[in-house]
Amino acid sequence: MNQAPVTVRVPAKVNVQLAVGGVRPDGFHPLANVFLAVGLHDEVTATPADSLRITCTGPGADRVPLDATNLAARAASALARLHGLSPDVHLHIAKDIPVAGGMAGGSADAAGALLACDVLWATATPREQLLDICAELGSDVPFSLVGGAALGVGRGEQLTPLPVGGPGFHWVFAVADGGLSTPAVYGEFDRLTAGLAVPEPEASDALLGALRTGDATALAAALTNDLQAAALSLRPSLADTLAVGTKAGALAALVSGSGPTTAYLVQDAEAAQRVADALLASGTCVAARPAVSPAAGATVV
Ligand code: C5P
Repeated sequence: MNQAPVTVRVPAKVNVQLAVGGVRPDGFHPLANVFLAVGLHDEVTATPADSLRITCTGPGADRVPLDATNLAARAASALARLHGLSPDVHLHIAKDIPVAGGMAGGSADAAGALLACDVLWATATPREQLLDICAELGSDVPFSLVGGAALGVGRGEQLTPLPVGGPGFHWVFAVADGGLSTPAVYGEFDRLTAGLAVPEPEASDALLGALRTGDATALAAALTNDLQAAALSLRPSLADTLAVGTKAGALAALVSGSGPTTAYLVQDAEAAQRVADALLASGTCVAARPAVSPAAGATVV
């Protein structure tokens, strides 16, 4: 058991392909989910305490639950249970990933808490076991631990790492006012596709090729998100934000995951600044954040 605080840095994600199949009997949807970790990060600090306690600071922190339902708290409890320990830890979350924004912020905090507690408690849990706990906590949590780029199948939790070429991709993320509930967006997807034949989700060869070669123009042409129509249906104003980014010169614009954050792929850092300035000036978002990808997974700092 270490006494010194342990801080872990965890990236956000954008889905460069989110292919969604028809709802399964367990309520989840089969996915071909191509995750890309991006350079917006939360930091989770674990400190010994008398009992499990969560604090959170940063944009949107007032919307983060601080009780046992917080995914970071559940991660600490699951790891403690595995090792027969009591989860007596103070977890502080320094938020920078949009809350309920479709960028896996809650999942990032869970992966960060898991790794921070594993180091704090010196439990040296094998990677495979950490990934199993991640998958139990949520479909996106394993990817938050791993980072980089990966194809997620099943409900998104079964990962295959993907190679990414080139110097990296440049993005801008437009943060919307308020969040969207992921189950509500999947529910809207079900409503919009009711009675239609929803194809089996499959990863796109063109997209995987664009990632492999690091070709931003090819990636822009291959970006897809099957949840976009559902997110736009619940939040029609996102169409205005997307239009501003496109007009400002983004190579492509799409909803990030279940939204409401929108993502703009751009050619370089200068284009990112131009698009970010236009998005902010338009008043259609509350923040516009340039970021590069891929980013490393959960890392002790
Ligand atoms: O796995 P996670 O707890 O993050 O999922 C949150 C919700 O998103 C699920 O309860 C479900 O409504 C929806 N979901 C889904 N299919 C997936 C992943 C998530 O329907 N593959």
